[in-house]
Amino acid sequence: MKTDHNRRLSPSLKPNIVKTAKPAAYFILLMLTYALGYISHRPSHTTLTTPSSLSLSSSPLLLPPPSSFPPPPPPSPIPTIRSSIDASELNPFRVTTRCADPVPPETVRRTLVDRLFNGTSPYENFPPPHAAAKLHRTSRVKGWGSYGAVFENVIRRVRPKTIVEVGTFLGASAIHMAELTWQLGLETQILCVDDFRGWAGFRDRFSKIPIENGDVLLYYQFLQNVITFNHTEMVLPIPFSSGSTLMLLCEWGVTADLIEIDAGHDFLSAWADINRGFRILRPGGVIFGHDYFTAADNRGVRRAVDLFAKVNNLKITVDGQHWVIYPS
Ligand SMILES: C[S@@+](CC[C@H](N)C(=O)[O-])C[C@H]1O[C@@H](n2cnc3c(N)ncnc32)[C@H](O)[C@@H]1O
Ligand SMILES: *[C@@H]1O[C@H](CO)[C@@H](O)[C@H](O)[C@H]1NC(C)=O
Ligand SMILES: *[C@@H]1O[C@H](CO)[C@@H](O)[C@H](O)[C@H]1NC(C)=O
Repeated sequence: MKTDHNRRLSPSLKPNIVKTAKPAAYFILLMLTYALGYISHRPSHTTLTTPSSLSLSSSPLLLPPPSSFPPPPPPSPIPTIRSSIDASELNPFRVTTRCADPVPPETVRRTLVDRLFNGTSPYENFPPPHAAAKLHRTSRVKGWGSYGAVFENVIRRVRPKTIVEVGTFLGASAIHMAELTWQLGLETQILCVDDFRGWAGFRDRFSKIPIENGDVLLYYQFLQNVITFNHTEMVLPIPFSSGSTLMLLCEWGVTADLIEIDAGHDFLSAWADINRGFRILRPGGVIFGHDYFTAADNRGVRRAVDLFAKVNNLKITVDGQHWVIYPS
């Protein structure tokens, strides 16, 4: 940086140097102070440990990728520096935008069908001829922990009018929730936020899901499943990315009494979904999600949930494989 700066100084500028020398010296001093402060501050991240079960030292947000880790240092008698989390450092991760005033739950489905699908229900004229022969009618939809007791527990507690599910896949958990709310006589809309792309490589495990021109027909198979179980009146897909959808729901004043988070399981995805989901949670509502206690939790779900609860001073309850945050 320094040599670059010198090279750009043309001879015609040299007389000005005298005039600008004093302010420049102050500026350099300022930059030097900043640089020294920055350098001396950085190592504190790598030694950061917390007394609680929440271990920030393994957070991908604060550390370089594992490939650039230095080799482990030899055992040293110098004790590790223990410091607690400075909450102000977490401020950049907070989502602060205010959502629109909530619209009545009775109007949510109509509003979404009008604005997302030009007024036509996604179930109308289903299936399109090119997909019809490829879709399966199944008596049990495959999912992950989709039939756990947690669903009944939270639904009985909240008696939700609106549920937002982030991560639907073939619809197993959504159909399960539809059955539960139907049995309880609730008039519930279940909004299923999923781009219905699955994830790269998912066909290794779900080879039955049809594919056409490289496009997986996950969305069509989901629609088919909801139709097979006769829950089209209660389950509405929102076939877009979780990030853009949750922000849009916030903008349109669509709130939920119950929010289930089960989309991307890496830290950054889970963190974003939980934060954005929480914004559209109605007061007194419940937010919960999968893979707090499965092999998948170490991808980042648990770290995201723990950090979220810590930052917002909320309590996590565990129900089977799921985490649940009840209103405090
Ligand atoms: C584990 S599956 C959901 C399982 C479902 N809850 C069940 O019980 O069967 C995760 C889903 O999240 C979706 N997903 C992942 N990242 C997403 C994103 N950024 N936006 C929307 N959907 C996403 C995938 O398409 C996939 O269907
Ligand atoms: C949207 O709906 C209007 C009114 O029903 C219709 O005239 C128009 O063709 C539709 N647009 C598309 C792209 O389907
Ligand atoms: C399907 O669900 C509707 C209500 O959403 C209900 O009126 C109807 O009886 C159900 N049909 C069957 C075959 O279960």
